[in-house]
Amino acid sequence: MEAKDLRKKFIEFFISKDHKEILNSSLIPENDPTVLFTTAGMHPLVPYLLGQEHPSGEKLVNIQKCLRTGDIEEVGDDIHLTYFNMLGNWSLGDYWKKEAIEMSFEFLTSKKYLNFPVEKLAVSVFAGNKDAPKDSESIKTWKSLGIKRIEPLGKKDNWWGPAGETGPCGPDSEIFYWNSSEEVPKEFNPNDSRWVEVWNDVFMEYNKTPSGKYEPLKQKNVDTGMGYERVYSILEGVENIYQSSLFTPIVEKILELSTSEDEKSLRIVADHLRSAVFVLAEKIIPSNLEQGYVLRRLIRLAIRRGKLIGIEDNFTSKIARVIIDVSKKDYPHLDKNSSFIISEIDKEEKKFERTLEKGMRVFEKISGKKISGKSAFLLFQSYGFPIEMTVELASEKGVDVKGYYKELEKHQKLSRTATKGKFASGLADQSENTIKLHTAAHLLHSALIKVLGSSCEQKGSNINPERLRFDFSFDRKLEEKEVREVEDLVNEQIKKSVKVIKKEMSVDEAKKSGAMGEFSHKYGNKVFVYSIGKFSKEICSGPHVENTSKLGKLKIVKQKSVGAGVRRIKAVLE
Ligand code: SER
Repeated sequence: MEAKDLRKKFIEFFISKDHKEILNSSLIPENDPTVLFTTAGMHPLVPYLLGQEHPSGEKLVNIQKCLRTGDIEEVGDDIHLTYFNMLGNWSLGDYWKKEAIEMSFEFLTSKKYLNFPVEKLAVSVFAGNKDAPKDSESIKTWKSLGIKRIEPLGKKDNWWGPAGETGPCGPDSEIFYWNSSEEVPKEFNPNDSRWVEVWNDVFMEYNKTPSGKYEPLKQKNVDTGMGYERVYSILEGVENIYQSSLFTPIVEKILELSTSEDEKSLRIVADHLRSAVFVLAEKIIPSNLEQGYVLRRLIRLAIRRGKLIGIEDNFTSKIARVIIDVSKKDYPHLDKNSSFIISEIDKEEKKFERTLEKGMRVFEKISGKKISGKSAFLLFQSYGFPIEMTVELASEKGVDVKGYYKELEKHQKLSRTATKGKFASGLADQSENTIKLHTAAHLLHSALIKVLGSSCEQKGSNINPERLRFDFSFDRKLEEKEVREVEDLVNEQIKKSVKVIKKEMSVDEAKKSGAMGEFSHKYGNKVFVYSIGKFSKEICSGPHVENTSKLGKLKIVKQKSVGAGVRRIKAVLE
């Protein structure tokens, strides 16, 4: 099999095993962004892993674009990236360990698919601890398939999730491939980087509760994730991801502009700008907040690295062009948004340029001793120095990084959950109040359109048990009168005790029926449409209350602007 067919073949294989292909979701979690980015294929599936019915069924497969800044320090080695693609298959309460492992094995070793020699594979499994027993079922299955190197490891290595403090989690089994021309060693050494982890089969059988207990999940799920870029490199016969054709045109362009061939810097520039391009393609712009903050950091760290390898002129837009060209076949939205991407990255580079020199002068003054959190924050806030850059510049003098993050949080109220990389999507928290507020958000959306016009498109929403937050496109403050009108319309629907009806249908049917939804977006084959009388009809994964009478009374408590043409409303149910 050729690397270029990997995407197609992966989907094809799991479809032949009765899976349904689902959406490659946005890199920005929709609905409930308690994390900044989608970090794994399972991320948009959380509500379904917790037991909610999925419109496409119990066996799912997809390719998901992901961004993980937790690994940013590792970037520069042979296998780590901030932006990457994850090939995943899921069982939502359907098949379990044996079947999952057998399918992974078949895809990896069969001639028609990856054709990896069995002798080059090794696996790790969960060794057991006080919370859960040793994973003997996985060991037995791997043995039956002829895998010789099976290493039981502890929780640090072979337990996945919860990605936040609570939620679905369980033991996992990781699959490694010997990616070296040297002879395969008899033993598997997880610390030898020539053993590349290619796939992770997670067996989600527990739900970690807020008190730290591991309760068996109502529904046992399988969640697997294969590293696309890693497998792609193996298929192309190269020993690291940057030598694969997904990266060589990018690295070559950087080399053309630079005077040094420092491998680590080249890789960092390529990785960070690639991530930046994909974040920009989601229409995020560099800023000091949330996703924009991460984007700014990525671009500026790349620029700093570029300088270290002797790039003199503005270069990010040139590299971005190459990145778009490499990926546009799989991701046409890059091409569609290319002028936005190019101009924003260039703007950010120029902005950084303007403050860099001044910032360096300030840095020289304070760098006599360990740099305090406050100073590191000042360098960021006023001169846009990414924290990693300050740390690097300060070298052995050191920086109070913890102190920096404290300051950052204080000043930006950057959500703690977000910085810690918690996950959620759909309604990660499915408490009664959250569900009520979710239904209220649908009513609110329709009411906004009725009062302010159809230009009020949803731009995001975030719901917790206390309140709902709803972002929509609108370019001015709502007048008091309009706020009242919106509230009244919603409350009228609540008073009328309207049934909330859920229907499953194809995307086309949903579109024809007039349901609201993002049709520019590729949904799965089947979707749920929630209707509230004639008042609201939206494609949504739910869950919702059964009748609006459950909601109480909606009150809009705040409104503000959150960017050009986007307004945010906070509302509560009283
Ligand atoms: N969620 C698991 C991971 O991220 C498997 O997809 O590794």
